Amino acid sequence: MKFFIDTANLNDIKEANDLGILDGVTTNPSLMAKEGITGEQNILNHYVAICNIVDGPVSAEVIATDFEGMVREGELLAALHKNIVVKIPMIPEGIKAIKYFSGKGIKTNCTLIFSAGQALLAAKAGATYISPFLGRLDDVSTNGLELIAQIRTIYDNYTFDTEILAASVRHPMHIIHCAEIGSDVMTGPLSAIKALAKHPLTDLGLQQFLADHAKGNK
Ligand code: E4P
Repeated sequence: MKFFIDTANLNDIKEANDLGILDGVTTNPSLMAKEGITGEQNILNHYVAICNIVDGPVSAEVIATDFEGMVREGELLAALHKNIVVKIPMIPEGIKAIKYFSGKGIKTNCTLIFSAGQALLAAKAGATYISPFLGRLDDVSTNGLELIAQIRTIYDNYTFDTEILAASVRHPMHIIHCAEIGSDVMTGPLSAIKALAKHPLTDLGLQQFLADHAKGNK
């Protein structure tokens, strides 16, 4: 399973990249705003800065909600760097835009996926990735993991190339369950990625090994 980090924070991106396990980055307009990145040119520069840190797909989201606007913004974003993936919302105009970009060989990530029907439509349009929002479904008492399993079955039935990018991941168990289901990618915060490494018995065991080594080398 590929690991993407879901942030626009350059320090977090560097830290995850330095671990050597990072495959890509996802951002969204809220994450950009959280980092105080505003204004078209600053936003474009920030995407380039991210691409210069991570050698992998970087999702950059369009703001337009009409087909022509999405095409205009998407082409501008795609021209920034070879690793940019144009992130497009799951709305009818978005489906048209995904189809258009797929015909041009431009990679897309269809975002705000909350149902299997939406995932099926995005795959038919030729999306490179689809982003089902796991945590936001859990927030409204709906099982996000069940949706990911359902999409996995549908894509396998028809051998769609579209990759399932489990998004809105909140904690390490989400990551583990996504791996069990066979999600192609997960995107989550640095905290969830680092939490995978933690175990109290690892810490205790290491403490003991170091103490015994110190005793033996007095
Ligand atoms: C997906 O690409 C989104 O950026 C993201 O995962 C949303 O996560 P949230 O529900 O934690 O905001």
